[in-house]
Amino acid sequence: MKLLLLGPPGAGKGTQAVGMAQSLEIPHIATGNMLREAVAAQTPLGMQAQAMMAAGDLVTDDLVIGMLMDRIASPDAEGGFILDGFPRNVTQAEALAATLNENGLDAAVLVMVHDDDIVRRISGRRTCPNQHVYHTQDNPPASTDVCDIDGESLFQRDDDKEDVVRNRLEVYRDQTEPLVAFYRYLGLPIHEIDGVGSMSDIQSAILAAIIE
Ligand code: AP5
Repeated sequence: MKLLLLGPPGAGKGTQAVGMAQSLEIPHIATGNMLREAVAAQTPLGMQAQAMMAAGDLVTDDLVIGMLMDRIASPDAEGGFILDGFPRNVTQAEALAATLNENGLDAAVLVMVHDDDIVRRISGRRTCPNQHVYHTQDNPPASTDVCDIDGESLFQRDDDKEDVVRNRLEVYRDQTEPLVAFYRYLGLPIHEIDGVGSMSDIQSAILAAIIE
């Protein structure tokens, strides 16, 4: 199964993708996570992407498309994948369609959350260096500021600061939200899921929609 996760920053795409990947036994491929790893490792790609990410702008297509195409060509993605954070604009969507060819995507899940909730979620998000995600109130770690899974210290992402979040929302509205109409036009099934509620209820709603 080849799935797309769509939705604004902070909607809970990454949170939901972790459980979906376990249930469906396919990899969760998140370009944001891949780019943050590249920045942390200071690879040439990471060094080029760093300033664009810190500003909340999209990283240029030439950097992201090649990275994503290499990843979906990996053996573990042969049986399908969940794409989280890609495509972000029509150019990326067209590159993906050209690569997947006739064996295209099966469905998209659009996680819908209002802007007020997004700001609250992003401002409370805490992340560990291995990309495990918490929320100070809604999903706190057992021990303050320490990851339950690997014991690493939690921190706030640079692009989770208020002014950067505002820009990320604008970029989403301008460049990424139009993909919903793009995929509708192509006839891809798009499951609209209310992203407000308990994380487990949202997970059940997503799995019910895509397995139906
Ligand atoms: P990326 O990492 O993809 O960021 P994003 O799309 O903005 O998504 P987020 O990671 O902010 O949110 P999410 O929806 O995954 O929410 P989460 O589950 O964490 O991209 C970052 C940057 O990388 C971009 O700005 C760009 O620069 C670059 N980039 C990435 N891909 C690119 C591409 N294809 N092209 C160009 N540039 C690219 O949840 C958020 C918080 O809410 C957490 O604290 C969580 O615990 C909490 N939460 C989750 N669900 C619930 C719930 N149901 N109730 C209460 N709280 C909840």
